[in-house]
Amino acid sequence: MEEYVEYISRSPEDTARISAEIATQLRAGDIILYEGDMGAGKTTFTKGLAAALGITDPVTSPTFALVNEYTEGRLPLFHFDLYRIDSYDDLYAIGFLDYLDRGGVIAAEWSENIEGLEQELAGDSSRTIMKIRIEKTGENERRIKVRGHIVCPLCGSNEISKATVKQTGDTVRICEGCGALWTEPRISSDNSTTFAHYMESRGLKPYWNELEGKQYL
Ligand SMILES: Nc1ncnc2c1ncn2[C@@H]1O[C@H](COP(=O)(O)OP(=O)(O)O)[C@@H](O)[C@H]1O
Ligand SMILES: [Mg+2]
Repeated sequence: MEEYVEYISRSPEDTARISAEIATQLRAGDIILYEGDMGAGKTTFTKGLAAALGITDPVTSPTFALVNEYTEGRLPLFHFDLYRIDSYDDLYAIGFLDYLDRGGVIAAEWSENIEGLEQELAGDSSRTIMKIRIEKTGENERRIKVRGHIVCPLCGSNEISKATVKQTGDTVRICEGCGALWTEPRISSDNSTTFAHYMESRGLKPYWNELEGKQYL
């Protein structure tokens, strides 16, 4: 089953807001693979990402340069355009893999040009690969589907959901496998606790129905 979060954007500004939310989840080494036609909004999405990462340089399409590098933000951002790349040989030739080790985030347009790229990159479990598909559903409307491979650092399960705890109003992420819970939007092994511990430490009963708006990530 393919689990994804879907957004509807009604303007370029909406798209930038959605990508800013995604940006809060990014950490060094993560990869965004875009899918979507010309004019879908991949570059617009990247502009929002860049702004949220604290990049003030104008983000332009890397069509001719193949990669644009932005290094002034919270994380370096490497924005690729793979439109004219259709083989692994080409991908190696442009140094795509070298960028993986530079401690930044890669955002690649036209990732669908390279068959099996996601599986190829997924071998290293320390990084999250997000697939972002943007579909044009109207002049200014876009459907944005985000699918991530978020893995629980405690048990390795990828059954992660997001929900709001009714009693505290906190948005949390929960591993369905082992019950690990994070109040941060981003999973990291140093701020984990379990659902039971989180609730009990606040004098609450650890009932799953205390969660609302549950969404699989
Ligand atoms: N909701 C929306 N989200 C993103 N772009 C939109 C939206 N509505 C209209 N647009 C326009 O669509 C175009 C998207 O272009 P761009 O981001 O360069 O696409 P791509 O990189 O996918 O080819 C821009 O001109 C943008 O202003
Ligand atoms: Mg583009």
